[in-house]
Amino acid sequence: MFEHWFIEAHALDPRFADAMTLATVSVDGRPSARTVLYKGLTEGAVCFVSNYGSRKGQQLDANPQAALVFFWSSLNRQVRFEGRVERASADWSDRYFAARARSSQIGAWASAQSQVIASRDVLEARIAEAEARFRDQPVPRPPFWGGYWLRPERVEFWLGQDARLHDRYSYRTDASGWQSERLSP
Ligand SMILES: Cc1cc2nc3c(=O)[nH]c(=O)nc-3n(C[C@H](O)[C@H](O)[C@H](O)COP(=O)(O)O)c2cc1C
Repeated sequence: MFEHWFIEAHALDPRFADAMTLATVSVDGRPSARTVLYKGLTEGAVCFVSNYGSRKGQQLDANPQAALVFFWSSLNRQVRFEGRVERASADWSDRYFAARARSSQIGAWASAQSQVIASRDVLEARIAEAEARFRDQPVPRPPFWGGYWLRPERVEFWLGQDARLHDRYSYRTDASGWQSERLSP
């Protein structure tokens, strides 16, 4: 159902149809959220990629419970996922990284994501350094960069309807499998 909605949203408006909000929680219970891009469903897990040393990466190391939200204004629909996040296999991350544009590969090496940086010049110098380091050769995946898989334990589909009488379908996993419930709007 998610894939069906995603295709519909992308067909109506491809701009950022793949953008989703990722919420993580710090060790002291403070939530933080940011946008990341959806990289497909693999073995029922929702995939995205990031820097493992970033703030989100550190939070996920300490507490792998996270939430993802899509909102497609073109459809007036929302999908929420909640579950545990794990790192993708090295093989999945290598394959994804190898298919990226070279400029993105260089950028992954150059950016110590979420660390304080003195100026844009420093970033540009780090890009030049990475370009020189990998001149005339393929750029390998940095060990600090790769995929994440969120394995959903709860999924909610929300359809905007007239007069705020929205439809909400919630699915939860337990020992007996997926349970579905309709929720009040
Ligand atoms: C449209 C959009 C797409 C983004 N996609 C990604 C992404 O796929 N991976 C990523 O690490 N950051 C992505 N970002 C940047 C994140 O929102 C965020 O700034 C960055 O990951 C650092 O977050 P953190 O400090 O909480 O770790 C995107 C931002 C926007 C606005």
